Amino acid sequence: MKITGAAKIIGIFGDPVGHTLSPAIHNAAFERLGLPYVYVPFHVKPAELKKAIEAIRALDMPGINITIPHKERALKFLDEADEDARRIGAVNTIVNMEGRLIGYNTDGTGYLRSLREETGFKAAGKNIIIIGAGGAARSIFYAILTHKPERVVLANRTVKRARALADEFGRRFNVKIEASGAGKDALEAYSKDSHLVVNTTSLGMMGEGRLDFPLESLPENAVVSDIVYRPLKTEFIKGAEKRALKVHTGLGMLIHQGAIGFELWTGRKAPVEVMRKAALKALKGKEAV
Ligand code: ATR
Repeated sequence: MKITGAAKIIGIFGDPVGHTLSPAIHNAAFERLGLPYVYVPFHVKPAELKKAIEAIRALDMPGINITIPHKERALKFLDEADEDARRIGAVNTIVNMEGRLIGYNTDGTGYLRSLREETGFKAAGKNIIIIGAGGAARSIFYAILTHKPERVVLANRTVKRARALADEFGRRFNVKIEASGAGKDALEAYSKDSHLVVNTTSLGMMGEGRLDFPLESLPENAVVSDIVYRPLKTEFIKGAEKRALKVHTGLGMLIHQGAIGFELWTGRKAPVEVMRKAALKALKGKEAV
């Protein structure tokens, strides 16, 4: 992009931040729409987070993305946060509204948007298994609960953590929620009548362990979803494809959480396919290294 006097900086605060695909995704979108924005990664250490957030206002930046490990702490340095972000207890997107910093969490809604776009899946009335009970699970669990599913099983290696999250959100929604271990045996019975299973852990990512799930017990019309996108197709997804189940990979959530942020910052509809192409290109470049 040609930097003129109209240029504005948007970016991402993280520690580490070098792995992020967001600059590739957003800069491609800004360029396509001819917007005078440039998206930059900022390596912000936890001790500097407050000052970095204050700089959004001082430098008149339209907004910022927040990533690991700042998503929870960033909340307390904002002027406001939308209800979903407050309930989830984490923000991934900040919008600068004429000097007021407003926090949003677009992870869960981005996840559901991409799931629907790619597979047609709607959560209402469905039985769903969520594997994991960490930060990513919180956003996805919350977004799913707002769509009135029939039953959600939160399955986590540490059952206590799944139970705590199930109790916390269970009070707010009239949905049957069960906490479970994440072992194959524990999940066999739930799998038989589940319509969606989503992995929200890092299992299956390059260099991590593998996810052991009883794919063979799922009904034929089940959707298998993974938020991991490195590799693009995890063993979990490949196993589901072998069974000819519908699959949803992690790239979609990455694109759509960004697309919602893009729309909040610019007021323009995000060019989702341009963003997807840019992410794939950046990902391939990195995988080759
Ligand atoms: P994130 O914000 O990416 O979700 P997190 O809050 O650290 O990260 O949560 C990581 C999730 O992956 C947790 O559900 C974790 O299970 P525990 O609560 O039992 O730790 C899960 N996880 C990570 N490594 C795992 C492994 N090797 N086996 C099973 N679950 C794992």
